[in-house]
Amino acid sequence: PTIFVITPTYARLVQKAELTRLSQTFLHVPQLHWIVVEDSPQKTPLVTDLLMKSGLTYTHLHMLTAKDRKLKEGDPSWLKPRGVEQRNEGLRWLRQDREAQLGGDSQQGVVYFADDDNTYSLQLFEEMRSTQLVSVWPVGLVGGMKYERPVVEGGKVVRFHVGWRPSRPFPMDMAGFAVSLKLVLANPEACFDGEAPMGLLESSFLKGLVTMEELEPKADDCTKVLVWHTRTEKPKMKREDALQAQGLGSDPAVEV
Ligand code: UGA
Ligand code: MN
Repeated sequence: PTIFVITPTYARLVQKAELTRLSQTFLHVPQLHWIVVEDSPQKTPLVTDLLMKSGLTYTHLHMLTAKDRKLKEGDPSWLKPRGVEQRNEGLRWLRQDREAQLGGDSQQGVVYFADDDNTYSLQLFEEMRSTQLVSVWPVGLVGGMKYERPVVEGGKVVRFHVGWRPSRPFPMDMAGFAVSLKLVLANPEACFDGEAPMGLLESSFLKGLVTMEELEPKADDCTKVLVWHTRTEKPKMKREDALQAQGLGSDPAVEV
C-alpha cells in the first residue's frame, strides 16, 4: 500500500532546510505520496519549486490558519495547537480529491502525519506499511522524556509510558501513529480539533477511530525508537539585522 504522508509547513527561515531534509528522507521510501499543506494564503514559490525538483510523488495544498488560532510572537508554544487546519485539509484531499486525481479506486493506503521538523528513520515506514486500523510506536525526545511509548503486553497496548497526563485517551505525539486509509474513509467526520485543550489534539482525531485495545504495536512491540521529535533552533539574525540597517543586508534574491 501507498503511504500518504501529510506534512503541514509554514514560511520561516529554516523552512527550506527542513523540507530539503525531509524530502531527501522520503526519496528512500518506496510508494510514498507526500501531501504538503502550506499554512499560507497561497502556495508559495519556494515550496512549489522545491516539490517540483524533489523527485517525489506529491500533492501541494495550502490552508491558512485562522488568525485567532495562530500563535503570536512571544506566546508559549503550548498555547495553541499547530498544523491543525493543514492536516484537516490533507484529510479532505484524501477523502474528496484523491480518487479523481490519482485514478483508480484503491482504498489501500496508510496515512501518516509527519511534521516538517522531526527526524524519521526509513525503518519506520516499513513498520507502518502493514497498518490495518491504527498502528503505534515510540517517539524519541518528546514530552520532556527520552522517549514516550505505548506499553505492550501479550501483543496488545495496555497503557502508555509518558511523563505527562497518562490518563489522556491517547497520550501520544502526532509522530507516534499511522492510520489506514480505509479507516479514514470509513469515518468521514474524523479530523483534528483546533479547540482541543493542550495535549489532546492527537486524541481528538483518534478517539472516533479506535480503542486502545485495537492499536497495533510496531517497532518490536514498541521497544525501538524510529522517529525523534527534534526541533530546530531559530537562527539568530543579529548580524543580518545590523547590516541591513546600514543597507548591507544579504541579497533578498538569494533563496535560503
Ligand atoms: C508538537 C507535536 O509534535 C505536533 O504534532 C503538534 O501539532 C504540536 O505539538 C501542537 O501542539 O500543535 P511542535 O514541535 O511543538 O509539535 O510543533 P511544530 O513542529 O512547531 O508544528 C507542527 C507542524 O505544524 C509542523 O509541521 C509545522 O511546520 C506546522 N506549523 C507550525 C504550521 O503549519 N503553522 C504554524 O504556524 C506553526
Ligand atoms: Mn515539531
